[in-house]
Amino acid sequence: CGIVGYVGPQPALEVVRDGLQRLEYRGYDSAGVAVVTEGRLETEKRAGKLTNLEEALAETPRSADGIGIGHTRWATHGAPNDVNAHPHVDNDNRVAVIHNGIIENFAALRLELEERDCKFTSETDTEVVAHLLGEEVKEHDEDLAAAMRAVCRRLDGTFTLVATYAGDPDTVVAARRNSPLVVGRGDGENFLASDVAAFIAHTRHAVELGQDQVVELRRDSVNVTDYDGNPAPVREYHVDWDASAAEKGGYDYFMLKEIVEQPQAVADTLLGRVGVDGTLTLDEMRLAPSELREIEKIVIIACGTSYHAGLIAKYAIEHWCRVPCEVEVASEFRYRDPILNRQTMVIAISQSGESMDTLMAVRYAREQRARVLAICNVNGSTIPRESDGVLYTHAGPEVGVAATKTFLTQLVACYLIGLYLAQVRNTKFGDEVNAVIGQLARMPEQVQEVLGTVGPVRELARSLSGSGTVLFLGRHVGYPVALEGALKLKELAYMHAEAFAAGELKHGPIALIEDGLPVVVVVPSREGRGVLHDKIVSNIQEIRARGARTIVIAEEGDETVRPYADELIGIPSVPTLLQPIIASIPMQVFACELALAKGNDVDRPRNLAKSVTVE
Ligand code: G6P
Repeated sequence: CGIVGYVGPQPALEVVRDGLQRLEYRGYDSAGVAVVTEGRLETEKRAGKLTNLEEALAETPRSADGIGIGHTRWATHGAPNDVNAHPHVDNDNRVAVIHNGIIENFAALRLELEERDCKFTSETDTEVVAHLLGEEVKEHDEDLAAAMRAVCRRLDGTFTLVATYAGDPDTVVAARRNSPLVVGRGDGENFLASDVAAFIAHTRHAVELGQDQVVELRRDSVNVTDYDGNPAPVREYHVDWDASAAEKGGYDYFMLKEIVEQPQAVADTLLGRVGVDGTLTLDEMRLAPSELREIEKIVIIACGTSYHAGLIAKYAIEHWCRVPCEVEVASEFRYRDPILNRQTMVIAISQSGESMDTLMAVRYAREQRARVLAICNVNGSTIPRESDGVLYTHAGPEVGVAATKTFLTQLVACYLIGLYLAQVRNTKFGDEVNAVIGQLARMPEQVQEVLGTVGPVRELARSLSGSGTVLFLGRHVGYPVALEGALKLKELAYMHAEAFAAGELKHGPIALIEDGLPVVVVVPSREGRGVLHDKIVSNIQEIRARGARTIVIAEEGDETVRPYADELIGIPSVPTLLQPIIASIPMQVFACELALAKGNDVDRPRNLAKSVTVE
């Protein structure tokens, strides 16, 4: 969910609405705002995208200045309708609350409140907090921060809470446990948000809140305490993201812009890390070479697209470093009693650095004494903060919900880690490692080259917008690339899309092949992996013989596949292990274009959110 709060001289409603627009990618099932005007609390909320709220606000203009809070929601408790949208208010309509996360003991609290004749209007866990705050603010002489601390002491679960009170038109109060929250310090004004994108147009001076802290925001002060009211330490930092990077810049969708930004994003992730002589510098990893030499096993944990980056990393790391590497979806990891110890390195991959599943897996791994290294795109987010070391992907802000440039840069980061480990551990693949480092450094140009040739992919995608199903096949690293291609199609085009390891096809899935069924096949590079290449060519023949319409992604000039390809998409020739960086691009374009042809909003696909901060 996206959260915004503002205290200052500007019209609060304007600032909050502007912030919500910038955060809408975090959730868009419903949206709402609350402002305090002349001692009165006014709220407005609507199901659906932010435009619905905008329309409702236009009908009853408000001249609120001073303070305001706003929310865009990704539904957990209760359907995404007007009533369940945030903010929620107490029975006196004096306190308004917005919330990101889950209050786990809400059922018991609700029962207790109902016994005191409290009337509930929604099915949400959040409403419990509104009523409790309404009670506590009376108990605490109208001190909203003290009331918030008292309420937080009673809550279990994860939350960011932001509240306003009609009796105090100068203050916004917020609390944080596990869910993201950051303060923007301005001059005579202050901001609160779930990420800096919401206030970067106003200030770049950010204050990071820690666990279990409450912040009281006034025009000239930011007062942070723990839940008992003791002053709490905070970290202040400068946000160096370019504000324009979070704008569409002439494109109809962020996703289209983010696809095009990939050469730069890949270059930025490599920048300063690869020396001219092939030496790698990965200082922020904060893990000494001696520690890296002690590692006996690597476990990669991640969700969604980041998980696919992890699957690809396994091939590279095991080959270059000769260290066993497991990959697991974060939500499964800690529940199966995994075997970890001090000699295990856990790599947590998360674009946002906030995915709750990944965060919980990180905490579990650290409890088991494993060393944890994060690969993350958002500076200062929770996962890198809680890890032993971090390697940031420098992709810049990604707004489209479906990951594109952050996926490519995650791959680059994974390769850098694998190559660095191989160097530190002196594996027998020294020559190959040095050659790959050189090839990796040339990737930005090759990504650019692919982008220049995807025109026919767009046409092809449009021609397939009527299909019910698309299958994807790959071998070796091409298999996770196929998985990612299928995920993109599900996310964006809401189509049934399934990926298989090409060799596994004959053991079952081949029964799905019927006349005209589109099957996208990723063909490995010929260099060094001739066997794999030839085997997949046979697989293409097998499905074509059964009627499939074959869409083949293969190296430019690979004539061996041409006779069996109904559609041939050429990509530059690179070593197989690096091929995912470029083979993924036609898949992104394919899914994006197909979704646009169906009239879908590719930046905000239905039911999804960019960062999911609940388990
Ligand atoms: C959400 C997004 C996915 C993303 C996944 C992991 O489900 O919709 O696009 O891949 O979270 O996010 P993370 O920020 O941890 O990489």
